[in-house]
Amino acid sequence: MISKKLVSPSILSADFGNLHKEIDMLNNSCADWIHLDVMDGVFVPNISFGLPVVKAVSNLAVKPLDVHLMIVNPEKYAEKFCKAGASILTVQYEACVHLHGMIQQIKSLGMKAGISLNPHTPVSSVENIINDIDLLLIMSVNPGFGGQKFIPKSLDKIRQARELVTCSDSGALIEVDGGIYIENAEAIYSAGADVLVSGNAIFSASNPEKYIEKLKYI
Ligand code: DX5
Ligand code: ZN
Repeated sequence: MISKKLVSPSILSADFGNLHKEIDMLNNSCADWIHLDVMDGVFVPNISFGLPVVKAVSNLAVKPLDVHLMIVNPEKYAEKFCKAGASILTVQYEACVHLHGMIQQIKSLGMKAGISLNPHTPVSSVENIINDIDLLLIMSVNPGFGGQKFIPKSLDKIRQARELVTCSDSGALIEVDGGIYIENAEAIYSAGADVLVSGNAIFSASNPEKYIEKLKYI
């Protein structure tokens, strides 16, 4: 198994008063994607930002936008996020009754499609859809807030996800989101992750660009 070692900084922890500067920093860094956490206050107990912010970031960014929807009824908004500039659109497994249809909708709009699993949702839940997706996101904290502690059990889930992807010959990348720092990044890659999302660690670092580089080349 060779991890792709991609880094997707989450702008949830960025300084929104200086968004232009923050996106310039990411553009100049070795970040691969830019992760945008959309929260509706219903699926998760927090509200973050929505379409206008995604659009604003899209106008400034030179990297693919990795949009993570933590919202109910995501099928109503896929086209809108596509128009706002999303390249990868990830929906929560727990928010979709008709998950297969949702994934087909995302792909038909020309975006890469991802499914995110809450900490309690087993990896086996996506067995029947693993060959249809481009990204499997393992939540390593309960979604809703940045700056939380990595749930250790997530490492087992990443290993299971890697096994599922390999055994099914799926092309899905494995992304991990929540509580990621230099200190645990190597263990997360070794368990089978391709993409690390990191918010608080990057944006609170004295040198965020350097921190991203360390996460990528650890
Ligand atoms: C949590 C979000 C994460 C979050 C990660 O609901 O999905 O993307 O911003 O932030 P850190 O790295 O601060 O845990
Ligand atoms: Zn996220």
